[in-house]
Amino acid sequence: MSERTFSIIKPDAVRKGYTAAILAEIEKAGFKIVGLKKISISKVQAEGFYAVHSARPFFDSLTTFMSSGSIVPLVLEKDNAIADLRKLMGATNPANAEEGTIRKKFAGSIEENAIHGSDAPETAAFEIGYFFAGYELA
Ligand code: TYD
Repeated sequence: MSERTFSIIKPDAVRKGYTAAILAEIEKAGFKIVGLKKISISKVQAEGFYAVHSARPFFDSLTTFMSSGSIVPLVLEKDNAIADLRKLMGATNPANAEEGTIRKKFAGSIEENAIHGSDAPETAAFEIGYFFAGYELA
């Protein structure tokens, strides 16, 4: 069944010039790009996005990083999109990411790990709504 997920190409990957290469991997894997924009967000906006992690020790550093430069939020669609994107991304820490995954190819560290992907239908719905209005997802 066709499903939507939410992704972000993170500031490290945008800064290093990997945006197009990562989009190519995503399209090659069969995802339809339903929404795409390049923006920058404030620390407060990053804190709102990562609110579920607010008690974690890396929260301050993560939200500073996510507001440190341009990001590319995406809405992606395919069968089994949420799980398939997580597989394509690879492990959170690129040192543990499988060969061929986006994080293995493009991520520098556990924090600057190139790409975000929703982990469940409820988080995908929240995250899509956080960054995109309905009219942007035609
Ligand atoms: P998490 O949801 O655990 O990972 P994923 O992005 O693979 O779903 O964590 C969210 C982000 O928080 C992760 O992409 C990078 C950052 N992070 C750290 O900076 N240090 C850490 O130890 C962890 C677990 C995550």
